[in-house]
Amino acid sequence: MDIKIEKVCTDDELKSIAVLANEIWHECFPGIISEQQIDYMVEKFQSYDAMKAQIGGQSYSYLGVYDGGELCGYIGIKPEDDERFFLSKLYLRSDKRGQGIASVMLKRVFAEAEKAGKKTVYLTVNKHNDHAADVYKKTGFTIKALTVTDIGSGFVMDDYVMEYKL
Ligand SMILES: CC(C)(COP(=O)(O)OP(=O)(O)OC[C@H]1O[C@@H](n2cnc3c(N)ncnc32)[C@H](O)[C@@H]1OP(=O)(O)O)[C@@H](O)C(=O)NCCC(=O)NCCS
Repeated sequence: MDIKIEKVCTDDELKSIAVLANEIWHECFPGIISEQQIDYMVEKFQSYDAMKAQIGGQSYSYLGVYDGGELCGYIGIKPEDDERFFLSKLYLRSDKRGQGIASVMLKRVFAEAEKAGKKTVYLTVNKHNDHAADVYKKTGFTIKALTVTDIGSGFVMDDYVMEYKL
């Protein structure tokens, strides 16, 4: 395992993240949300155009996760105006799971949050995404709230809000 985590700087890198996001979302979310909702959310939040707008206008950063030079995961983060740091995305291709790479990814998120002078990291995770919620709990996140967010076109996100104190 030779993990490197690097900030996405070029359009080509962001396009590669969009291709990977599409692959991972269609692999991991069936059974949790419908195929129609997956298509809708990938287009709205994880397409190249959507991520480009998040980076350009909403202070998001994306980080690529590479194993032996091969892109296999990604992280989306955003500092809030207050003391919180938002972990928006934490995604790893299925063949790379179960090897502790997520712990390396989360350490990097905490380091970025500390560098930004923040006190907490928060995220939302689907209430039925048991494995991800277990990984977050094991890392020290606790459930702070339950939310149902209308994301348009008749779809909702049914999430836990989880928080980690730095
Ligand atoms: C969420 C995700 C990034 C986690 O990655 P992973 O490879 O499955 O997790 P890891 O194997 O690195 O486990 C991370 C840590 O949690 C622990 N862990 C894993 N499953 C656990 C469980 N069920 N209970 C307790 N601890 C667990 C591991 O032991 C590891 O700790 P360690 O590094 O100290 O040994 C990955 O499963 C993924 O991309 N899933 C699909 C996308 C997704 O759901 N993303 C989150 C959206 S909010």
